[in-house]
Amino acid sequence: MRSQAPPSALGLEAKVVVITGGSQGVGHGCALEFARAGARVAVVARGPERAAAVAESIRARGGSALAIQADVTREDDVARAVDETLAHFGGLDILVNNVGGRSGEPEGKLLDAGPDHWRRTLELNLCTVLACSQAFARARLERQTDGAIVNVGSVAGFKASPGLAPYGAAKAGLVQLTKTLALELAPHRIRVNTVAPGMVDTDSLRAYLDEAALAERAKQIPAGRIARPEDIGKVVVLLASDLAAWVTGQTLIADGGELLASG
Ligand SMILES: NC(=O)c1ccc[n+]([C@@H]2O[C@H](COP(=O)([O-])OP(=O)(O)OC[C@H]3O[C@@H](n4cnc5c(N)ncnc54)[C@H](OP(=O)(O)O)[C@@H]3O)[C@@H](O)[C@H]2O)c1
Repeated sequence: MRSQAPPSALGLEAKVVVITGGSQGVGHGCALEFARAGARVAVVARGPERAAAVAESIRARGGSALAIQADVTREDDVARAVDETLAHFGGLDILVNNVGGRSGEPEGKLLDAGPDHWRRTLELNLCTVLACSQAFARARLERQTDGAIVNVGSVAGFKASPGLAPYGAAKAGLVQLTKTLALELAPHRIRVNTVAPGMVDTDSLRAYLDEAALAERAKQIPAGRIARPEDIGKVVVLLASDLAAWVTGQTLIADGGELLASG
């Protein structure tokens, strides 16, 4: 596949990347961008068909990819996903913790919020990051090569959004978790960073906003449009690459100016 930059600059050729939630939306954008950069990609998702289709589309374009059916809220699935990646590719260099999002349940204001909704949202957006990062780091302990973790956060972690308190709290927590993981994993040659997107045109966003609402929101973004998954995939690739070799513990907002404009 055609590289998006000179190979020596990104340094991602043949690197092995595991992408949680790589079968659609932002994770799919990441999978395609890593493959374009020459990386070998493990696409992790609960639904096997879409993950297999993404892996197949990468292979059809000359790349190397594997689909892994796993639920990253389950510790045994996380361990198996890491094992399957190592067994298939013989290495493990990069983890993209992309799984997350709103719970899909009706989101009430804080006075109505139930504890289960809070727990599920924190589990999906924060606990999965810790579990996957632990499994990734443990699998790499004996390796004498550089590794990287890139988390997918959200601008929701930087602003107050009524009705989105658990999601915002989880994504704000991810900013802090990124810093601590970066410090603790630096001796193991693993950098840890987060990309915090604004709105991205994915099925999950379209579950909340119809076409007219999306067009209205796009007008509020200084860049003039809503991000496409590959816009975020490129930033994730950048942070995982050699171009960011001296960057760790950081959260990079990638939102076309959305947060700045919201005041
Ligand atoms: N879309 C936006 O506007 C936006 C904005 C800011 C930040 N983000 C962040 O971007 C990330 C991805 O969001 P998205 O909009 O791309 O979501 P999405 O379209 O709903 O895609 C989610 C992906 O994760 C997989 N997945 C979900 N739960 C999983 C689990 N427990 N184990 C394994 N895989 C799982 C899904 O496949 P299966 O269902 O088959 O498992 C799918 O591949 C999230 O962290 C979200 O918070 C999104």
